[in-house]
Amino acid sequence: MKLYAILGDPVAHSISPIMHNHAFKKLGFDGCYTRYRLQEGSMLKERFKDLALKGANITVPHKEWAYKEADEVLGIAQQIEAVNTWIEKDGKILGYNTDAPGFFESVKEFEFETLLILGAGGTAKAIALYLRAKGYDPLILNRTKERLRFFQELGFKTYTWDDFEPRALDLIVNTTSAGLEDQSLPAPKELLVPLFQKAKYAVDVIYNKITPFLALARSMGLQTKDGTDMLLYQGVLAFEIFTDFHYDKKSIEEAMRKGLELLDR
Ligand SMILES: NC(=O)c1ccc[n+]([C@@H]2O[C@H](COP(=O)([O-])OP(=O)(O)OC[C@H]3O[C@@H](n4cnc5c(N)ncnc54)[C@H](OP(=O)(O)O)[C@@H]3O)[C@@H](O)[C@H]2O)c1
Repeated sequence: MKLYAILGDPVAHSISPIMHNHAFKKLGFDGCYTRYRLQEGSMLKERFKDLALKGANITVPHKEWAYKEADEVLGIAQQIEAVNTWIEKDGKILGYNTDAPGFFESVKEFEFETLLILGAGGTAKAIALYLRAKGYDPLILNRTKERLRFFQELGFKTYTWDDFEPRALDLIVNTTSAGLEDQSLPAPKELLVPLFQKAKYAVDVIYNKITPFLALARSMGLQTKDGTDMLLYQGVLAFEIFTDFHYDKKSIEEAMRKGLELLDR
């Protein structure tokens, strides 16, 4: 049996084990997926080897370590400089980022051309770079200046709350952690309301929750989505990597959705 795990801190709340284990069972793959709380990012490779893992997902706060410690980084993860999926192949650790394509997959049903990303952390980087590679030109709005430098150096249009003028944009994405454990909005209401008046869609990457951001957008008639589908699709793409692209995406997605239905929410 091949062993897989999610490594990060915290991981107790993670729903990845139920998604992956259900898919292993439904598709008849001899694998098991567990969780491991890892506090020290520098121990990532050692633990991966000690636990004899075949593959892993790496979550907060170790995605940059996962990028640095992989023997080879493939795809968009090279630009994002953050990795959330490892697979051991011929004695080497290969690293991928499935968060960004997972997000893109989750918003495919929306017809948008222009978008604003709220936040400038790891998730914002991943989404902005991936969407740019797909031909979009996302604007970035963050509470403070420091994290915007990364985006400015790459030529993105960036704003803080002080210099942003609301305008017509199709899709507004919250990648901040505002609303995760509190009731705060990711930007002042005076900026969000005029944005929502002209937007069509609002997406929050926080999952399993109607955040104040989503509640406001809904109350103003926008089509909304939380981060559950992003999580699901990053899992589907990781599963494909774990099982060497042996199963088709639709079957993996179906099995994972069934796994999520088992959760007592
Ligand atoms: N659904 C999924 O599959 C998925 C995948 C990945 C991540 N996520 C979620 O994405 C969120 C962000 O993760 P991350 O790793 O990108 O975080 P991060 O790198 O720590 O970045 C956090 C960002 O949020 C901003 N922020 C934090 N609190 C805020 C507040 N109260 N008001 C306004 N802005 C605030 C920060 O602004 P400053 O620069 O001003 O501090 C920063 O831009 C988390 O909630 C995580 O759970 C979901």
